[in-house]
Amino acid sequence: MNTQPPTQCSAWQALAKLAKEQQSLRIADLFARDAERGSRFFADAPGVRYDFSHHRLDRIVIRVLLELARERGFDDWRAAFLRGDPVNSTEKRAAEHVAQRAGDSASASVKATLERMRALADRVRGDGRIRRIVHLGTGGSSLGPELVVDALGVRDTAIEFRFAANVDPLDLERALAGAEADSTLFIVVSKTFTTEETLANARAAKRWLGTRDPARHFIAITGNAAAANAFGATDVLPIPDTVGGRYSIWSAAGFGALCAIGADVFDELLAGAREVDQHFAHAEAARNVPVLMALIGVWNVNFLGMSAHAVLPYAHALKLLPSYLQQLEMESNGKRVDREGRPIDYATAPVLFGEEGTVGQHSFYQLLHQGTQAVAADFIIAANMPGDYERRELLLAYAEAQADALAFGTTDPGLEPHRACPGNRPSSTLTLERIDARNLGRLLALYEHKVFTQGVLWNINSFDQWGVELGKQLARRILSRRKS
Ligand code: F6P
Repeated sequence: MNTQPPTQCSAWQALAKLAKEQQSLRIADLFARDAERGSRFFADAPGVRYDFSHHRLDRIVIRVLLELARERGFDDWRAAFLRGDPVNSTEKRAAEHVAQRAGDSASASVKATLERMRALADRVRGDGRIRRIVHLGTGGSSLGPELVVDALGVRDTAIEFRFAANVDPLDLERALAGAEADSTLFIVVSKTFTTEETLANARAAKRWLGTRDPARHFIAITGNAAAANAFGATDVLPIPDTVGGRYSIWSAAGFGALCAIGADVFDELLAGAREVDQHFAHAEAARNVPVLMALIGVWNVNFLGMSAHAVLPYAHALKLLPSYLQQLEMESNGKRVDREGRPIDYATAPVLFGEEGTVGQHSFYQLLHQGTQAVAADFIIAANMPGDYERRELLLAYAEAQADALAFGTTDPGLEPHRACPGNRPSSTLTLERIDARNLGRLLALYEHKVFTQGVLWNINSFDQWGVELGKQLARRILSRRKS
């Protein structure tokens, strides 16, 4: 397995040379050279079209990027990852989120957990007692379920769903507003069952319940059943050790989402992701959407110097996607040492941020168009959307207009400087058929595999997150000092 620094690859050096030679190349020139570019620079994954025509690259750059993947030993790494080899080297374990959504070919234990999730969800609905479900968890134990529920909606409106992720008491207080203790169920999701914020919220929830039996009001989803039992939860669903928090929506960590959207819709989510897993595993690199997303990201970050990446879903249903991807990309690939523990002297994950369109246009797009930071962007749109024609058309027209404005800028040479937009700012557009469970599953899996591929290209372990530990340790020390 190749664990050499990528900078030693001849393709890396060739890309650096190309970037230098093409310094003055403009996206507008690329379109002028090739009138068909708009209809040629795309690749299809199941249900999703990836348009990369608005990037600052030509066929030669793509060819050398593909060569970089080859030199990095991408095929071997992908095979090792999908086979369940311990690719998470610092924690000596596999990364098995794909195995959670393998459907008929899933392991017996994955199938058994899904069965238990379904049965427990039926029981929660069936006894008619529960009117409010409050999901307690943070990071990967909250962002995925909240995104899925927000994007797809709650099926049975007899039960209200709320999320509390912040230890700020206001979060839980708001999640409990209007709730009655007898009809409230808490789903506590914590892989470790040691995350202080989640446990503090769970203890506060217990106090709020008074003398009621916690076994009737808590369901725990965790890899640490003993701690959950000690807390008082008897219904416990497992999160396998090999499933990282930010990759856990497909596992029992998605239980709250399953309760909200229904088991059949949850199945669709898994099925969509599974289709993209097949695409990732088998499509040739030049047509493989997550591989292309990763390679083009590396081109932007390492060769065009873009240190930020905006995720811009033009769909209100996907408004939480930027927060979800912030964790997925930055916690996975925000790394400064490589797989061998050597300090890295090239850029890794860019700062990821975003906002739903059109809302973001009236906020930070000014910087995207005229700021001094170079930011690449992903526009995400749905070809078919519910709602009236006028507003749907406006939404889609704005997405297209923004991608063009970023790429081509203003063209009138007579404009005063403060009105001129330089353009030449790259973006991709991902088009889903519509926003439903299957397509959401596909979209999330695309980004997961993009992140994995970039980890291979940058020679880093995408599956650990040691950088978050120091803050936790210091907080513990500060807390005990404040108490004494
Ligand atoms: O602190 C970071 C982190 O470990 C994330 O990776 C994880 O998703 C989150 O905390 C929550 O962890 P847990 O599920 O163990 O409570």
